[in-house]
This record gives sequence, structure tokens and C-alpha cells, in this order.
Amino acid sequence: MAVTVSTFQKMKAEGRKISMLTAYDYTTARLVDEAGIDAILVGDSLGNVMLGLGSTVPVTMQDMVHHTAAVVRGAQNALVVADMPFMSYEVSAAQAVENAGRLIKEGGANAVKLEGGVPMADHIAAIVAAKIPVCAHIGLTPQGINALGGFKVQGKTDDAAEQLIADARAVQDAGAFAVVIEAVPAAVGARITEELRIPTIGIGAGPDCDGQVLVNQDMLGMFDDFTPKFVRRFAEAGALMRQAYREFDECVKDGAFPAPEHCY
Ligand code: KIV
Repeated sequence: MAVTVSTFQKMKAEGRKISMLTAYDYTTARLVDEAGIDAILVGDSLGNVMLGLGSTVPVTMQDMVHHTAAVVRGAQNALVVADMPFMSYEVSAAQAVENAGRLIKEGGANAVKLEGGVPMADHIAAIVAAKIPVCAHIGLTPQGINALGGFKVQGKTDDAAEQLIADARAVQDAGAFAVVIEAVPAAVGARITEELRIPTIGIGAGPDCDGQVLVNQDMLGMFDDFTPKFVRRFAEAGALMRQAYREFDECVKDGAFPAPEHCY
């Protein structure tokens, strides 16, 4: 059965954990969907893992619409959440609504995600008023890397933890249906989860969040440029792929491929 934002609320109420993985293309989306993952995030992490840009900052609306449409074609049941790229929602509420609308209308996503707490609450409310579900993202917000001064754990002091809780409350009050919490102490993840009515989806925010999200290439062991502590490799697909490519190379060079059964 198709997962909706109401399913998310129900899962939190019933204490059932929510699974979310990123995907950026049709084939991967199909595999993730067939595995029964609840939600697919078309993350702007595609800037790192698909486009080799080194950060999410240069990712464009065009990139996001293109990849979202491919994922939507592969997802039958999972809720598809599309990331709003840097500078596509910060300028004004009107800009935020217009670009969120593109991800829904042109990309076919079910919901959008944007980074920010208290300062983005009005923009979230405007998007929600336009009947577009919003997932917020607080804690370590990779689009703000230049302001944050690097990929650092957030909410480590009492003041910083209080600010995160205020951010979480603000996005909930603005109408967000869920909130991603990235790279914060597990105790802060637990406290926000307990305080909010909406589900929390953690990535490096401890085991008590209502759900967990990982970047596909990280959890498959395909991406080595940078591996945060919160990543668990559920497979060594990178090693498997490299081995298959080596074998192909050898077979082409020694004439073992193509064999008669591959010929017309
Ligand atoms: O872009 C992304 O993949 C994300 C996750 C890290 C939550 O925002």
C-alpha cells in the first residue's frame, strides 16, 4: 500500500519505526521500493554522490526536478520526498512555494524537504498552505556548510541543544509533517522525538528517533570520498562492482566475452 504523510503520523503514533533511503534514479528507486522502504529521499546529496560536486551547494532546481522525475517513475509505494536545493527557498516565501510546486508538478514528488528551523518557519507555512507537505531538516544542514564552518556535530552545548529544540518546535508549528535531524548527540535526538507530535527521522541522531535515513551510496559501501561516523555499510557493493568491472575488462581482452550465447 502506498505510503502517505498520514502513514508517517500513524507510524509514530503506533511506535513503528520509519525507514528512508536516498535514491536519485529509476533503477535504484525500484529496488528500494521493492524492498519495502517507507520513503525515498531524492536528496541534494546527489551533488556529492552522483555529480561529484564536493558539496550540495551548487545543486540546481533543474538537477532536482530531473532526478525526482526518474525516482518517481521507479517508486510504486514509497513516499517520494524531494530536496529543495540551496537558494531555491530562502529568498522569500513566494520563491519557496514556486520551487516546491515545481518539484511536485514537474518532478512528481509527494513532498519536499528543506533545511532550517526557526528562520524558515514562515516559508514552511507558506508551502504547507499551498497544499504541499514539507519535511524539515535541522541539526547539521549541509547546505549551510560555509556558515557552519565544516561538517560538525550540532547541539553539543546546552544552549545549542535548546536552540535545536526551538527549531524543531517551530517547524512543527509551521505545519511540517516530519523533521530530519542530522548529526546531533543521541540524547538531543531522543528529547526532540519525545517532545514532537510529528515523526523525527534521524541521520546520526541516535536510536530513539522515529525513523532513520541514510544516503544509498554510503550504506552500500559505494562512496569513499567522506564517511561520517553515523554511516553503517550494509553491503560492500563498491567492491563487488569493481570486481565485476575487472572481470569484464579481462573477458573482453582475452576474448571470453561475448560467448556464442550472446551472439545473434
Ligand atoms: O541530501 C540528503 O541526502 C539528505 C540526507 C543526508 C538526510 O538531506
